[in-house]
Amino acid sequence: MPTVDNPIEKTLAALGIDGPIAIVKLFDEVKARFEKEAASKTIDEANLNLLKNAWLGRKSGVLTLVSENWLKSSPPALKPIVGQELNKLKQHIEGALEAFRAVAEKLSAEGASAKDRIDLSLPGVIRPIGSHHLVRTVMQEIEDIFFSIGFSVVEGPEIETPYYNFEALNIPEHHPVRDDMDTFYLDLPKGAPGPLLLRTHTSPVQIRTMEKRRPPVRVIVPGKVYRRDNPDATHSFVFHQIEGLAVDTDITFCDFTGTIEYFVKQFFGESVKTRFRPSYFPFTEPSVEFDVSCIFCGGSGTAASGQTCGKCKGSGWIELFGAGMVDPAVYGFVNYDAKKVSGFAFGMGMDRLAMLKYGIDDIQVFFQNDVRFLKQFP
Ligand code: FA5
Repeated sequence: MPTVDNPIEKTLAALGIDGPIAIVKLFDEVKARFEKEAASKTIDEANLNLLKNAWLGRKSGVLTLVSENWLKSSPPALKPIVGQELNKLKQHIEGALEAFRAVAEKLSAEGASAKDRIDLSLPGVIRPIGSHHLVRTVMQEIEDIFFSIGFSVVEGPEIETPYYNFEALNIPEHHPVRDDMDTFYLDLPKGAPGPLLLRTHTSPVQIRTMEKRRPPVRVIVPGKVYRRDNPDATHSFVFHQIEGLAVDTDITFCDFTGTIEYFVKQFFGESVKTRFRPSYFPFTEPSVEFDVSCIFCGGSGTAASGQTCGKCKGSGWIELFGAGMVDPAVYGFVNYDAKKVSGFAFGMGMDRLAMLKYGIDDIQVFFQNDVRFLKQFP
């Protein structure tokens, strides 16, 4: 900033300057003063503004005073050299301040990014991530066991025609078995082909598979099924089944029992006891229900409290699924020669398998989406 002793406060005459050499020297001194002042300042935006005002400010900036005191009042003979030196000084100061501005901006950007930089040593934000639902986990376990003995997975539609859900499975209209599978029919627009229903079991996929493939067939079919069952601890109106179908030219009941027992021991462990009971399904003959010893009371029928086991109702057995040898009538619907082929089929309730294996005493928890339950099976 100009001071009382500052030469720019005085005219050239008052300073005793009367020739070009002295003028150049004078300007050099001013330039050196600028350099010193700029170099003494921290490079930032505030100091840039200070320097600009001090040196280029219109009212009392150094260059304005130089122009006023040296240029305007200089003798005509010296005016060109004063003007020339003033221009050179102005250009130099403007260039230097521009460089000062660029460095100030760069430093400020670097400072901001340093502030924003991620500190990897800090503990991270832990975001909750989902996991497989227990039914999905059990589905995978079951699939792995059947993969290991040569089965593959197929899927079918959840919306079915009565033909696949019933008729092709040897369940004609008005067959009493349909009452047990009373289900949800779709409200279709007028004129739409129908009727259609939510499938009551995965068995229709047996038919769909045999229509497409020739024996040997060895498939499992996991999926959702729907029934108008009242909800309780072991019943839900939507649940999961896993169907199994094996058809070849020489499959016997022994292959069937061997496969099922292998699966059950792999799934529940060697200690579980199993039994077949005669049953009835229109699409298998003979038909069986398959039971495992109750895992809650160890098959004794008595709970640890000494009371009758509530899970198996004292019988020591829990029903797992229905199954049997494929009824020859079914082969007629898929153009298989019933004299040449034989096979077995089963339909397991996947939710019930999960309940038994993991000690869940109410099927409803699978469908309530309570995170406290789901978190227990990461
Ligand atoms: C059937 O659904 C037959 N399709 C099974 C079958 C397939 C038999 C192939 C022969 C050959 P069932 O209605 O018994 O059968 O059902 C099979 C299993 O589904 C039952 O053992 C049970 O574990 C499960 N299940 C049945 N209803 C429900 C329900 N409302 N909620 C939960 N699980 C159920």
